[in-house]
Amino acid sequence: MSDPAYVALDGVTRQWGGRGGVADVSLDVAEGSFVSVLGPSGCGKSTLLRLISGLETPEAGSIHINGREVTHLQASGRGLSMVFQSYALFPHLSVRENILFGMRVRRVPRNARDEKLAEAVAMLGLEGLEGRKPAALSGGQRQRVALARAVVSGHPLCLMDEPLSNLDAKLRHSVRRDIKGLQRRLGLTVIYVTHDQTEAMSLSDQVVLMRDGRVEQVGSPRALYADPVSTFAAEFIGDPPMAIIEGAALGVSGALIGLRPEHLALAPSGQGDLTGVVREVEYMGAETHLIVDHPAARGLILSVPGHAAWQPGQEISLTLPKEHRVLFDAQTGKAKKDPQQDYGGDRRQTAPRDSRKALQSHPSTD
Ligand SMILES: Nc1ncnc2c1ncn2[C@@H]1O[C@H](COP(=O)(O)OP(=O)(O)O)[C@@H](O)[C@H]1O
Ligand SMILES: [Mg+2]
Repeated sequence: MSDPAYVALDGVTRQWGGRGGVADVSLDVAEGSFVSVLGPSGCGKSTLLRLISGLETPEAGSIHINGREVTHLQASGRGLSMVFQSYALFPHLSVRENILFGMRVRRVPRNARDEKLAEAVAMLGLEGLEGRKPAALSGGQRQRVALARAVVSGHPLCLMDEPLSNLDAKLRHSVRRDIKGLQRRLGLTVIYVTHDQTEAMSLSDQVVLMRDGRVEQVGSPRALYADPVSTFAAEFIGDPPMAIIEGAALGVSGALIGLRPEHLALAPSGQGDLTGVVREVEYMGAETHLIVDHPAARGLILSVPGHAAWQPGQEISLTLPKEHRVLFDAQTGKAKKDPQQDYGGDRRQTAPRDSRKALQSHPSTD
């Protein structure tokens, strides 16, 4: 709580003709933490990262890095490195030259350069590829070169914009672990942009969920999962996401009721809280997802262990345990906070509502 934030944004706005970009974003990022900026395409994630990096200038608000105001400082003076989706490698330079480029520009002595290069190459498993040009590398190798370049820069802050989205699923998992390992080993502060909630949830100390240029919710992955501030947050986080049911179908007027899939249970025919129809049966190996249609519900997906003998078109009764129901206002979609209501175990992991201070004051939620 007492440490000042390593990166602090205060009321930052950058839009085009009053549209797009980000509006009035305030955020504190603790030193050494892994923070994801998550949200659907077009919600302002890249704009936010570009503002922090200095590639974009805010029209209002201020940005501090490590206690120093950098709002109008150019990118090269901010002491940070960046990794992009597109790798941004020089095609005519070898792996070695690409990694060393920044150090050459900064006239780092040769010995120090070689030492850093060897270290980064070993750390990212690029041994033997030093002489190759980017065109002769796989996507995963290219992205590891981009990561190596960020590592040798020695900057304590690294900004990443969807660095894995050009990789196939398997590589995404392995490079994701490389990134997390690097961040931990080097004690980096990482701000990581992604539209993939699984990435954000699995990598981050804190997740900043954005919507239409604004911060919707900030918290630990656990807090976002257990305590969404809105139906938007509830349906964006989780795979499958939270089911949302009109309260009237369950005798609660003026509310929407959310339930995580693991809290839905199969009931004997006709005896549940809700009877729907199986639309799809998705066999996943360890479990089967039953996609259930009901006129008052969306995102109703029941996960049953192993292989399930359900068929599309069958009626299915579900129990929706009261202790796991999350209430949202039917008009605004905002979570209803009823202090009398006992939501059950998980919901005690509550992130502060005030996103300004959330990142700083909440390092120990998990
Ligand atoms: N240079 C620009 N000029 C005009 N509109 C822009 C510019 N950059 C971004 N935008 C708009 O701002 C919104 C957010 O863009 P962006 O930050 O790239 O979103 P994300 O990275 O979340 O997909 C989009 O609607 C986009 O069209
Ligand atoms: Mg983007």
